[in-house]
Amino acid sequence: MRFHILTLFPEMVLQGLATSILGRACEKGILSFDAVNIRDFTQDKHGRVDDYPYGGGAGMLMQAQPIYDAWRSVAHGCTSGRPLRVIYLTPQGKVFDQKMAREMAQEEELVFVCGHYEGVDERVLEEIVTDRVSIGDYVLTGGELAAMVMIDAISRMVPGVLNNAQSGETESFHENLLEYPQYTRPEVWRGRAVPSVLLGGDHAKVDAWRLERSVERTRRWRPDLYERYDLPGRALAYLLRDRLLHMDMIENIRRGQAEVLAVREDGVIIRDVTTGIYMITAETKDAGERLLSFVGTQAEVFACHQDFVMESVAARFQKSYVNECLQAVYTRKQKFSEETPFLIRPLTEEDLELVAAHYELYTKEKLCAVLRKGAVFGAFLRQSVDECMKDREENGADKIRSDDGGKIDSLICAGFIGTHEEGGIGLLYVRKACRRQGAAEALEKFLINRTLEKGWTPYVQIFPENEASLRLQEKLGFRFSRKKIYWIS
Ligand code: ADE
Repeated sequence: MRFHILTLFPEMVLQGLATSILGRACEKGILSFDAVNIRDFTQDKHGRVDDYPYGGGAGMLMQAQPIYDAWRSVAHGCTSGRPLRVIYLTPQGKVFDQKMAREMAQEEELVFVCGHYEGVDERVLEEIVTDRVSIGDYVLTGGELAAMVMIDAISRMVPGVLNNAQSGETESFHENLLEYPQYTRPEVWRGRAVPSVLLGGDHAKVDAWRLERSVERTRRWRPDLYERYDLPGRALAYLLRDRLLHMDMIENIRRGQAEVLAVREDGVIIRDVTTGIYMITAETKDAGERLLSFVGTQAEVFACHQDFVMESVAARFQKSYVNECLQAVYTRKQKFSEETPFLIRPLTEEDLELVAAHYELYTKEKLCAVLRKGAVFGAFLRQSVDECMKDREENGADKIRSDDGGKIDSLICAGFIGTHEEGGIGLLYVRKACRRQGAAEALEKFLINRTLEKGWTPYVQIFPENEASLRLQEKLGFRFSRKKIYWIS
């Protein structure tokens, strides 16, 4: 990897980078450092590179032209074919961290622009800079030390720079944890013994001990980092305290669909990545408000697990349309018998009109998406010609899709069921003419079985006034949450 540093003090940078691990990586040809003296590019006959700021103010500014020409000399020699990434070191930039180091280590070349005096003419920054980066909230006399800090942290993520290929990954900040404490000989020093687990030779125990220590010191010393550590695991631990109320969130995380945005002692917020739906639970209004600060401005739909959270969403995001639901969970593991007179098969995009005619909560685009995924299933019945004619009179031919255009003994679709994109079983509908024949039950048993086969927990959300559905869930052995879920959009 090649680093170009545009600076007024090339010797300072080169000396700093030529020693120890980075120096050796340089000798091996894994890294190379090219310090470009900005002063070499000035057109001023006295060698000046700075001038007074327009509009007045303290100090001098570095001029645009020498920096621009220094950059051009580097850009012309760049052979990678990729657009050059140019980093300007400034306390106004995004704060550098391990994630940024890891990401920048993927580049073949990086250019660092080190400012001095009171700053740099903004126009050259606008012209050439791709990233503005700070190494922390304090002001240095120039960008050189900051560039060296960044180059050090980036270099050690470049393969081959460190001896042990692993050590770049296992240290502090990996997965938002600080590194565990380490010990070397002697076994006892000034009365302090090395923890006995490290002397026992049981690697599994050593690993467990180290993880525990890492978690403990991160929680104590860096609560800001700890907040981001193992978000899914910590979210699940919280949500499982009331699994009937939270099964939609739990399943979203378990099925790998959730971006866990924040976990607090008094609440959790996640975002379903397939639909963008936010799901939130909180113990107090204040906790809910804090969790909502993690929500982007594009938020459309929220599933709130408390009424006061729903009120906060309404006020904050100017939403007003609310649906209240009861959540029921199939907590058993046994599958149902699938003996039924209905033939159950996935519906396809060809069935869009049929499904759209009876399911109003989705737009046609959304219905298409679930149909394309094979997430909606229809129950089909054989129908005699008389029944078929009567059915057509009552329901209109266009509402009934049959496999053979309505000839004798055609297969007609009695109803359908599906899995919502965010995870719940739903979209249940049975045509009037086909009710009281067990179609809903057959469909739901079928989908519960398919859900269990994936290792998932089936759950449904029902409008409290839908008594037929409530009765069906009870019959199938679902357990109801005592609290409601509030959908707001
Ligand atoms: N230049 C001056 N202060 C700086 C900082 N904190 N980070 C990066 N560059 C700087």
